[in-house]
Amino acid sequence: MKGIKVVGGVPLNGEVKIQGSKNAALPLMAAALLNKGTTILYDCPQIADVFVMEEILRLLGAKTVWNNHTLEINTEFIDKTQVDEEQGRKMRSSIILLGSLLGRFQEGAVPHPGGCVIGKRPIDLHLKALREMGAEISEIQGEIFAKTRGLRGSRIHFPFVSVGATQNAVLASVLAKGDTILEGCSREPEVCTLCRFLKKAGAKIEGIGTSRLMVTGVEKLHDVVFQVPKDRIAAGTYLCASAITRGQCVLLDAPVEEMEAVLLAYKKMGGQYTCNSGKLTLCSFHADKPLDNLQTQVYPGFPTDLQSVFMAALTVARGESRITENIFEDRFKTVPQLQAMGARIEMEGNTARILPGELTGTEVIASELRGGAALLVAGLAAKGETYVKNCSYIERGYEDICRDLCMLGAQIYRD
Ligand code: EPZ
Repeated sequence: MKGIKVVGGVPLNGEVKIQGSKNAALPLMAAALLNKGTTILYDCPQIADVFVMEEILRLLGAKTVWNNHTLEINTEFIDKTQVDEEQGRKMRSSIILLGSLLGRFQEGAVPHPGGCVIGKRPIDLHLKALREMGAEISEIQGEIFAKTRGLRGSRIHFPFVSVGATQNAVLASVLAKGDTILEGCSREPEVCTLCRFLKKAGAKIEGIGTSRLMVTGVEKLHDVVFQVPKDRIAAGTYLCASAITRGQCVLLDAPVEEMEAVLLAYKKMGGQYTCNSGKLTLCSFHADKPLDNLQTQVYPGFPTDLQSVFMAALTVARGESRITENIFEDRFKTVPQLQAMGARIEMEGNTARILPGELTGTEVIASELRGGAALLVAGLAAKGETYVKNCSYIERGYEDICRDLCMLGAQIYRD
């Protein structure tokens, strides 16, 4: 069981390069399926979820080659349309392969992603959109089988925002016959990045960045070279590491244009920052103020993926904070672990009340990706040593969190 030891009480001071974005890279790899040819992704993060997606593509018949952080995917000889069950179950985002498989091959099968520790995470919106575009979908023993005589352009309205369902519908629409109007779309940066990638590959998409996307189906896409954007969640994680230790850090290439709500929260905590020529300089000497009403929202609101790490930082603020989780129904699994470190957190439905307190190092267990990162952030400010178990969860989304936090001066050691 991989673990990480953190020695607390060291104000971070240093600079770190921000990795490529996990949540941008995965849909781009799924989109590569739509082009019978070669896709090259620069600055692709070398993380577990990307390796799983790579293995899924290889098992379908794609060829992949890494050259440092450049990933080349050749899908010319793909001869399968059923996603490997073992690999597909490792990662929920395998569901968006359905849109690409239907678009290119008019059929596809993926394992039902099931729920996970942060919530049930149903896929009803994904399947509704694909059916409206002409897919026949059946679920047999935990597998989802889809086929179509040809996807057709449709008008689809999402009753509420879903990043993945928006991405799945966009992937299915780019090669469909006719025009597709998608309303109620997610405006997350990772949706915009996918649309920009597809346009660069020859797709016709208008309305990028808005909740209404208009796609005109094309015959085929062509080879594309694309730069994976930087990871706003990794940057927000390291911002909290700076805040909780009252340190002074520089995040190189942080995607500040996608971090408005995060930087606003940091500023309300008393953090000070400047950003120029790709350097986000954080001064957290006074970042000890509570946040009386932090609400997670869809983009451009405060991201749910940073809820846990901000909670960790607020456990040592000088006053009472409240965080409300509005996106997932069960994303407070890390609270008991933070309480084991001495955090004073009281739950009131989907709101966590965080009272001022101190943290003491102890052994804690990660149960999911962002909660695991939050435990490491808490360990940075705890008295003594904290040992975080099950760190393989963290490796799903962070290329090397120990390397990065060491660059910022943390005393942190992997087993
Ligand atoms: C993406 O997940 C991200 N994952 C998540 O990041 C992120 O937390 C989430 O968006 C919200 O921003 C990737 O991009 C790979 P949703 P996704 O569909 O697309 C409900 C991380 O830590 N819903 O926007 O699965 C769902 O249950 C991960 O990097 C339905 O009810 O999220 C949730 O409550 C965690 N039916 C809400 O919508 C559906 O068909 C938002 O989910 C789909 C979703």
